[in-house]
Amino acid sequence: MKTVRTIAELRGHLAGAREEGKDVAFVATMGSLHAGHLALVDEAKARGGLVVLSIFVNPLQFGPGEDYDAYPRQEATDAGLAEERGVDVLFAPTVAEVYPDGELGVRVVPKKLVDRLCGLSRPGHFEGVLTVVAKLFGMVGPDVAVFGQKDWQQLTLIRRMVKDLNMPVEIVVAPIVREEDGLALSSRNAYLTPPQRERALTLSRGLFAAKDAFDQGVTDAERIKAKARGTMRGSDVEPEYIELVDPDTLDPLQEAVPGAVLAIAARIGETRLIDNLILGSP
Ligand code: PAJ
Repeated sequence: MKTVRTIAELRGHLAGAREEGKDVAFVATMGSLHAGHLALVDEAKARGGLVVLSIFVNPLQFGPGEDYDAYPRQEATDAGLAEERGVDVLFAPTVAEVYPDGELGVRVVPKKLVDRLCGLSRPGHFEGVLTVVAKLFGMVGPDVAVFGQKDWQQLTLIRRMVKDLNMPVEIVVAPIVREEDGLALSSRNAYLTPPQRERALTLSRGLFAAKDAFDQGVTDAERIKAKARGTMRGSDVEPEYIELVDPDTLDPLQEAVPGAVLAIAARIGETRLIDNLILGSP
């Protein structure tokens, strides 16, 4: 595995691979790699070609008072995990490399899909995400980029950006990787104390209880969401939202259908966690 820190080095390295006719598959991360990230690498590798993984904690997507400074950073460990999993190029730029002039003159501003779910409590977050993903696409020039189902609103917005701005990259989705007890893997799980981790389990428990109700024939969205809330009652976890939405428009649904996304966000102490599941999927 080659580790590169500058855009020039990255481009130089990728030019060689392209001359050999290799495709480039890209996985963008903020590091603190876990099995969820590594599953994206597997998906990228399955496409053949060269696999590029980026690690960049993007200041632009953190709001004031959010955890930019505290966000876990463990590049040496990450590099070992990435190499072991078969990443070819690790791109770990500095903030100055990505934002050389500090403030950008141009950003990618989403006009739809942000006035809901996480967009409500994290103003500017998805603008920061789309801007950095557009920049990373410009740096890497991938043929394929793999993103996780875990961040459904982010994924939907990235797909929409690629479509609306005609970016020449195929977006591939990888399913959520969970701990054995159901907790969705997240770099932010590192913040949880053992009792908090126990409480965090109620997110996936709520989702799975709602899914069971759907599997047993309940289609009324209110009843499905009530099932999730009911399961969470008594756990001392107050969800920020539980929504059943259309997978593409993110519009709330009255009636559940296979493919609908049930999404949840909740704060456990200071840690904000999200999770979701797709109804009708195994
Ligand atoms: P990060 O939170 O590090 O996630 C990087 C990628 O890993 C995203 O596509 C995310 O959906 C995926 N992922 C996270 N947890 C997962 C899990 N349990 N199972 C499967 N995939 C999982 O998302 C970001 O970084 C940033 O916003 C980024 C896109 C890199 C832009 O800065």
